[in-house]
Amino acid sequence: MRPRIRGGRTTVLAALLSLALAAPLTAQAQGSPPAEPTAPGASLATERPHQYEVTGAATSAARTALAATGVSIDEVHKRAVVVTADRAQAAAVRQLGYTLRKLPDPPGSAKGSPSSRVKDFPEGYTGYHNYDEATKEIDGLVAKYPDILSKQVIGKSHEGRDILGLKLSKNVTKDENEPEVLFTHHQHAREHLTVEMALYLLNEFTSKYGSDDRVTKMLDSREIWILPDLNPDGGEYDIASGDFAMWRKNRQPNAGSNEVGTDLNRNWDFKWGCCGGSSDDPADETYRGASAESGPEVKVVSDFVRSRNVGGKQQIKTAIDFHTYSELVLWPFGYTEADTGEGMTQDDHDAFATIGKDMAASNNYTPEQSSDLYVTDGSIDDWLWGDQKIFAYTFEMFPSSAGEGGFYPRDSVISKETSRNRDSVLKLLEISDCVYRSIGKEQEYCKES
Ligand code: ARG
Ligand code: ZN
Repeated sequence: MRPRIRGGRTTVLAALLSLALAAPLTAQAQGSPPAEPTAPGASLATERPHQYEVTGAATSAARTALAATGVSIDEVHKRAVVVTADRAQAAAVRQLGYTLRKLPDPPGSAKGSPSSRVKDFPEGYTGYHNYDEATKEIDGLVAKYPDILSKQVIGKSHEGRDILGLKLSKNVTKDENEPEVLFTHHQHAREHLTVEMALYLLNEFTSKYGSDDRVTKMLDSREIWILPDLNPDGGEYDIASGDFAMWRKNRQPNAGSNEVGTDLNRNWDFKWGCCGGSSDDPADETYRGASAESGPEVKVVSDFVRSRNVGGKQQIKTAIDFHTYSELVLWPFGYTEADTGEGMTQDDHDAFATIGKDMAASNNYTPEQSSDLYVTDGSIDDWLWGDQKIFAYTFEMFPSSAGEGGFYPRDSVISKETSRNRDSVLKLLEISDCVYRSIGKEQEYCKES
């Protein structure tokens, strides 16, 4: 248990006092924006949120309280955080006594109008794959490498797009008795780099099979599942106007509200809505949905994972869920600040931390328990571990700050920032036959009987 420090006014005052000493963050802040008038007839449901630097919120408890205003927390620093907030949420944050500085909007994000729906990435981002382009690339790989790569449609998104499951393994058409590993991508619409991460892994593992020793060994002895796009509707919506919408959730309407979307990463069926780590307001960035698995995309993926329980044994041993941004390797639990407790023994925690730090040493991300940032409930890694006993991590990819592009880094970084995770992904694959080997307890936990 780490020390619990109370958030609220004391923290805010302390933070304000330290403001003069605080090192400037990397992002170039613009001055405090004037109050933005609501255009006549403007629908709140389509209002584009902005990022703000919020001074203070120096503890997990303070950040959890901050998140309760409905914002998403995008960056965590010692004396400040960066949030995404719409007008009402920004006001709620000010109400708590915090000072906000608006950060620059993503490039070109002011000129789009809902009528100019070009449905593709803008200039400087054309190297990213939209949904159709990603599907074509995947189909091409499946056609080229049918012995080691297979594609199935595991279900549909709210708007009816296919949610794909790609399997990579030697003898791919057979369900062999091999440890399975799951990679999930793009729960959050604006985190487009995560789809590129999936495409990188698919390209790398197919093209290097037979020539690269580590890749060959893993395809020979593991069954790898890549789910490249959990939120295709949100992703397409984010780019639909030709400018980025800063969208996070899925595109499912909410009964009795104009506000669209559920935060898929608050909708998983483990301690759903338990602990102040999600919102019950459909207007919020972290709206948890009407019930656990109410998001069709979450239901589809949960059913898929449950289907990998064969003969009472979950075949999937380990997982990474890819997000952007902040360059972090995170492990469960998110719902509690406790390091250990029900469902998380000291050995579990030690193995999570050891492997997490090992992966982070390789990609130069920061390793920590996810609740060190702020509390989240209903997140995928809590469900994968808490409900399915799958050793699940969250990676927050490049960049580390809004000043380096935040959710929207240029396409020129794709190659470097996806291949950056090659070794850490291989490390997880390699230890997936027995994660407790990481703490020297293979005999105790992994002896075949
Ligand atoms: N940034 C991600 C989100 O808000 C991950 C937060 C970390 N917590 C976790 N349980 N993985 O959904
Ligand atoms: Zn995310």
